[in-house]
Amino acid sequence: MSSAQRKDDHVRLAMEQQYAHSGRNQFDEVSFVHHALAGIDRPDVSLGTAFAGITWQAPLYINAMTGGSAKTGAINRDLAIAARETGIAIASGSMHAYFKDPSCADTFRVLRTENPDGFVMANVNATASADDARRAIDLIRADALQIHLNTAQETPMPEGDRSFASWAPQIERIAAAAGVPVIVKEVGNGLSRQTVLALAGLGAAAADVSGRGGTDFARIENGRRELADYAYLHDWGQSTAACLLDAQDTGLPLLASGGVRTPLDVARALALGAGAVGSSGGFLRTLLDGGGVPALVAKISTWLDQLAALQTMLGAPTPAHLTRCDLLIHGELRSFCADRGIDTRRLAQRSSPSPSSGSADALHEMTGSTR
Ligand code: FNR
Repeated sequence: MSSAQRKDDHVRLAMEQQYAHSGRNQFDEVSFVHHALAGIDRPDVSLGTAFAGITWQAPLYINAMTGGSAKTGAINRDLAIAARETGIAIASGSMHAYFKDPSCADTFRVLRTENPDGFVMANVNATASADDARRAIDLIRADALQIHLNTAQETPMPEGDRSFASWAPQIERIAAAAGVPVIVKEVGNGLSRQTVLALAGLGAAAADVSGRGGTDFARIENGRRELADYAYLHDWGQSTAACLLDAQDTGLPLLASGGVRTPLDVARALALGAGAVGSSGGFLRTLLDGGGVPALVAKISTWLDQLAALQTMLGAPTPAHLTRCDLLIHGELRSFCADRGIDTRRLAQRSSPSPSSGSADALHEMTGSTR
């Protein structure tokens, strides 16, 4: 099967998944403690974020998806326009199709030509040579490079990779040669604390945990098999919320993607420590559902507006201040935390003042505001 055909299959099967998804995931097991006097004024709220030396005007990005065929080139053009119109960052899909067949370069280059001043990320897998990674970065004048890890996708893929041992040393080589920050990401199965710690040692600038709860590539690849005999790999891995909890305090900046459905999920992920939050399948669905670029621009604008509104209610003048909000962890996610040694009581009480301060101090500490 040609690489272009595979890219078209991924889009088609990811869209089928969007329609079939139950709508529930583990973000539902994270809730904010409501403090009725915590609110601040909307003009005092900013969406700006900074991580790994990168600053964005909003903590949201269109995550890696596609390129490599005529159809997916048109999708990249539309995604790039939406990123430009809303001022959020965007990632390319895997650029291996370009290494194999440079005639498809325009299907990736369009990400830059339509969005000359935006923050654009190139995307390769962990078998790319350092030279190819540089070619990918150069083609779209990328501001950062994503390297994707996808063992649970490769395994059921008939033509998939079966050799994973070289990935860690190759990430280190690519990171040393890239010349831009390297963000290592999963594709929907999540990164464990141990993986994030390893990535920090390999020279990654940040890790995008991209956990379970949204697009499921084991399911997509199983759907491409004649016998579909890998159904038991569906829903493999840890949820995005679980990954953020697992990898807090590793020291490596974290990004969050995987099953982000609403502005509340964005706020939850930021409160769990993500520097920014990405969406792929959900944004693609909005684009392809009939409304095209205007629908996606409207959706992203609404999300940004509502995220600012949530920050106002929660008393968080910046996205980073959301990490001071009290969070309750419920259900299976709570069991995960217990077994992984994650202290959920601390999360539920982190806005509390020290015992010596008075009630006015308590409120200001709770809201993160200064006098
Ligand atoms: C993806 N994803 C992806 N990731 C990556 O690093 N390189 C890639 O080429 C692709 N290709 C791709 C195609 C399509 C159609 C989709 C929907 C997704 C994975 C993506 O970046 C993200 O990690 C997961 O999709 C989880 O996020 P969502 O979709 O649940 O928001």
